[in-house]
Amino acid sequence: MDLNKILKGHALDVLKTLPECSINTCVTSPPYWNLRDYKTNPVLWNDGWTGELGAEPDFNLYINHLCDIFDEVKRVLKDDGTCFVNMGDTYGGSSLNCSYAVKTKGKTSFLKDVDHLQKVGHARGKYDKSLLLIPFRFAIEMQNRGWTVRNVIIWHKPNAVPASVKDRFTCDFEYVFFFSKNKKYYFEQQFEPFNPLTYKRKFDDMTETKAKYFQGLGKRKQFLFHQKLLNNELKGRNMRAVWHIGVGSSSKCGHIATYPEKLIEVPIKAGCPENGVVLDPFIGSGTTAAVAEKLNRKWLGIELNPEYIKFAEERLNHE
Ligand SMILES: C[S@@+](CC[C@H](N)C(=O)[O-])C[C@H]1O[C@@H](n2cnc3c(N)ncnc32)[C@H](O)[C@@H]1O
Repeated sequence: MDLNKILKGHALDVLKTLPECSINTCVTSPPYWNLRDYKTNPVLWNDGWTGELGAEPDFNLYINHLCDIFDEVKRVLKDDGTCFVNMGDTYGGSSLNCSYAVKTKGKTSFLKDVDHLQKVGHARGKYDKSLLLIPFRFAIEMQNRGWTVRNVIIWHKPNAVPASVKDRFTCDFEYVFFFSKNKKYYFEQQFEPFNPLTYKRKFDDMTETKAKYFQGLGKRKQFLFHQKLLNNELKGRNMRAVWHIGVGSSSKCGHIATYPEKLIEVPIKAGCPENGVVLDPFIGSGTTAAVAEKLNRKWLGIELNPEYIKFAEERLNHE
């Protein structure tokens, strides 16, 4: 398999051409439902619907399309493979992009009739002003299709754009879902500094005396911990699941929805050994590839919009 390149096409079709059990980890951010137009050509889905991913008339259809793609991701992942998916939520009723499906003579067409939509609860009415909880619906469907959900990571954005809303709180975070293909998987533990308050207390608490105390009690684990603390040998504590990472400016890299390099450094380090392969089926401006290269990992990208591919290739050559 040729690596360190972007394959042009619809993720579902391209993934089907890749060999099974060949990728270490997948790190990606798909188009969100009903949010942006990436100007990609309409594609044909397993259920017969044709259109862009994210432009489905109903979010359940979107989740099925997305999970059909991740079924293929699962197939190409090694048995100890993992998958990290960044996704944000959407409010219902903010746009009336919803329609309903009618099947006539085996052909499905989509109609917009607000009264009918209210009855079936897909437009203004049932979901108006409500968070649609799409990331969680997606994660539950992934679980139904056999993935193990290991973490819901909160990506807190300290510099999130202020919102003009006054009747709810401003949303300043997105999610990164961490899935594994099987119960046993490759994972390099990640550390963060100890909480300075507890750390200081542990020191002020006469570490040496405490080590001796635990030794006296035969508590080997605690004894070793205090010894290591004393000798500055500890890497820190196990990394927590709320990550504070600022959003960068998308305009600089010619793509409307890039994620920051910092967001995916930890997933790549944790999920892929050096010289292993990172996959991004929605690679956009090539952020995943840029970070994988910096961290000495191989990568494989898929992208449907040729403009973005050109852009990502220029970025990667430049870097
Ligand atoms: C949220 S963006 C990813 C941005 C990327 N993480 C970055 O930092 O640049 C989603 C990308 O998926 C691409 N895309 C949309 N539908 C696709 C499909 N069916 N197959 C492959 N790529 C698709 C879009 O063109 C867009 O570049």
